[in-house]
Amino acid sequence: MDCCLSSLLLLCLLLFCVGNNEAFNLSTISFDEGYTPLFGDGNLVRSPNGRSVRLLLDRFTGSGFISKKMYKYGFFSASIKLPSDYTAGICVAFYTSNANVFEKRHDELDFEFLGNIEGKPWRFQTNLYGNGSTSRGREERYRLWFDPSKEFHRYSILWTKYKIIFYIDNIPIREVLRNNAMGSEYPSKPMSLYATIWDASNWATSGGKYKVNYKYSPFASEYKDLVLDGCSVDPIQRIPTAFTCSESNFHLETADYSIITLKQRLAMQKFRQHYMYYSYCYDTLRYSVPPSECVIDSAEKERFKDTGRLKFGGSHQSHKRRSRRRSRTYVASGNDNHIMWS
Ligand SMILES: *[C@@H]1O[C@H](CO)[C@@H](O)[C@H](O)[C@H]1NC(C)=O
Ligand SMILES: *[C@@H]1O[C@H](CO)[C@@H](O)[C@H](O)[C@H]1NC(C)=O
Repeated sequence: MDCCLSSLLLLCLLLFCVGNNEAFNLSTISFDEGYTPLFGDGNLVRSPNGRSVRLLLDRFTGSGFISKKMYKYGFFSASIKLPSDYTAGICVAFYTSNANVFEKRHDELDFEFLGNIEGKPWRFQTNLYGNGSTSRGREERYRLWFDPSKEFHRYSILWTKYKIIFYIDNIPIREVLRNNAMGSEYPSKPMSLYATIWDASNWATSGGKYKVNYKYSPFASEYKDLVLDGCSVDPIQRIPTAFTCSESNFHLETADYSIITLKQRLAMQKFRQHYMYYSYCYDTLRYSVPPSECVIDSAEKERFKDTGRLKFGGSHQSHKRRSRRRSRTYVASGNDNHIMWS
């Protein structure tokens, strides 16, 4: 037990070191420069200097914000602190999507944080959809190496013409390289950035076993050091974006966050070997042939059963296949808007 604990500690140190030594060169913006409230306006609280914002969930509504513009390729990032204590049933999402513009053929890149009962840590998943490919979930689920409710950490989504990288601080946790076989399932239409907090009682924690308990509300997630880097485009414009975006795409593709150093790649491997507890790439019951973008890592693979879940993962069955049937649509209804799974 002691040895496990100390090697875990070592791993944490390794992860933290990479994080601290190689901070990205980012320019942050104020909330109003880049974003606008999406729903639950009364539950969106700006800081006095306008550079950070809190999203609240109470018994009446969750809340969310959206980027004012849509981007074709970009780097979307924020330092986020999640609600603490009893957070079962809560979903905090940080994602890009264009479901409101391209209803049946939308693209999406997700960070989704799933709350837990007191004393149990937050978990999270990443996912992607291209051109409405919602029947092909590409989820990976993970634990974190820190308590995300104690301090701010930077969560980032890089999306270029060639690759997608999810980062926590400066550690790449997932990389998807575009290949021809992916076809239109590689996100390729302009997307907006969304941040939301909402009641996901019916699935978020242990498959819906634990609901949001409003005795502990309001639940607050906080966002600061906001970054929106990329080419903003009108989603239905006719002008070829290759021309209008060439400069910002060049910037995006050559920025420090587009290049994974050897040290970062090592940290990514460590993270995935220790903290990933589900991957669709190893779920051979679901995909007898792993989707083309999957890179099968033998060290990773041997930890997983053919359900894509850990061999010795005991308590992680909770979210099961639920997400397979799930696709998110944004539903605006009268005086109250929800993000719903349908
Ligand atoms: C950081 O970015 C700014 C503008 O994006 C640039 O002017 C500056 O040279 C960069 N600094 C480093 C150390 O790369
Ligand atoms: C995206 O999906 C739509 C509807 O299913 C389809 O008609 C279209 O051809 C797809 N786009 C590409 C680029 O494959």
